[in-house]
Amino acid sequence: MPSRAMPSRPLALAIALAGLVAVTPARAQPSPDALVDAFEAVLGPVRTHRPSHAKGTCAAGHFVATAEGTRLSVAPTFSGQRVATLIRFGVGGGSPQASDTSRSTRGLSIRFETPAGDIWDMANISVPVFGAPNPQVFVENLLVRRPNPANGQPNTEAINAFVAANPAVTRQGRWLAANSPPASWATTPYWGVNTFVFRGQDGQLRPARWVFEPRAGTQRLTEEQMRSMPGDFLADELRRRVAAGPVEFDMVLQFPAAGDDLNDPTIAWPDDRPRAVVGRLTVTEVAPGPGGACDPISFMSLDQAPGVELSDDPTLQVRAGAYAVSLSRRLQ
Ligand code: HEM
Repeated sequence: MPSRAMPSRPLALAIALAGLVAVTPARAQPSPDALVDAFEAVLGPVRTHRPSHAKGTCAAGHFVATAEGTRLSVAPTFSGQRVATLIRFGVGGGSPQASDTSRSTRGLSIRFETPAGDIWDMANISVPVFGAPNPQVFVENLLVRRPNPANGQPNTEAINAFVAANPAVTRQGRWLAANSPPASWATTPYWGVNTFVFRGQDGQLRPARWVFEPRAGTQRLTEEQMRSMPGDFLADELRRRVAAGPVEFDMVLQFPAAGDDLNDPTIAWPDDRPRAVVGRLTVTEVAPGPGGACDPISFMSLDQAPGVELSDDPTLQVRAGAYAVSLSRRLQ
């Protein structure tokens, strides 16, 4: 694992604070602390791991933009030069012991670092939609699941009433129920889910969402494998795969048509929208055990202005602040 990718604690904290300062949502939104507090209301205090995608494996590789990627974004990552990447593959949920066969999201988080030192982060999931349409509903959806201190149980009636009033929170779960978990971290697409704004060489601004498509194709666990596979197989499977040859993903942009919702990440755009392949991610190394260079960082410098900028999607705008608070609590 390249040690240059692991920032010192002071540097990580400086990046965390920069994230806090950079986020100025247009409307009043839950504060970064309130967003992380909502996770902790359900999980209890989380100080040793991430409250989301707590289980994960660190890896490294590189990214090279296609000519189309260079045309569509002036961001340093899309220059066409080879860009170093620190990568974290994750399993959704707040437990570091989550099972690799669980019907939850898998994560692909990437820190790009250009030869000139420009850093850009993203955290993607193996489902095309998010679990909440906006930050307020995100917080309420967690708080309603708080266990009752008297019996340690959540209030099922309150949860059912909340879900009935906010059906958008069921979209991700319905997708997961219809698509079994991937057989490998290398055999699933990972969606960025939120809308970003790409500034092209021609000066045009283009809203877009992205997906990382596995060059190995999509492969999911069978029902039988979901019953028989051990709870920990993804990390070793990836190590064996990368030892045999690089694992690759194509980064593909999708562009909206008139009427497509740009600001609600629970609504995927139809598959027939125009697409462009903008780069290739190659995974060349996997950390030998848990932890590694991904632990003391958060994948939160989510925009690379000018070039790939935040859209008005409020669920995107609150992310960097929440990740920064989460990181600072983990580093205490
Ligand atoms: C209201 C919006 C959101 C909030 C408040 C939120 C909050 C968080 C927090 C606090 C963490 C832990 C960060 C850390 O400790 O380093 C996290 C991790 C993560 N989130 Fe989000 N998130 C949001 C939206 C999303 C969306 C839309 C996606 C999917 C594209 C996503 C994917 C991930 C992934 C993959 C991780 C694990 C990152 C890693 O590997 O370090 N999140 N999120």
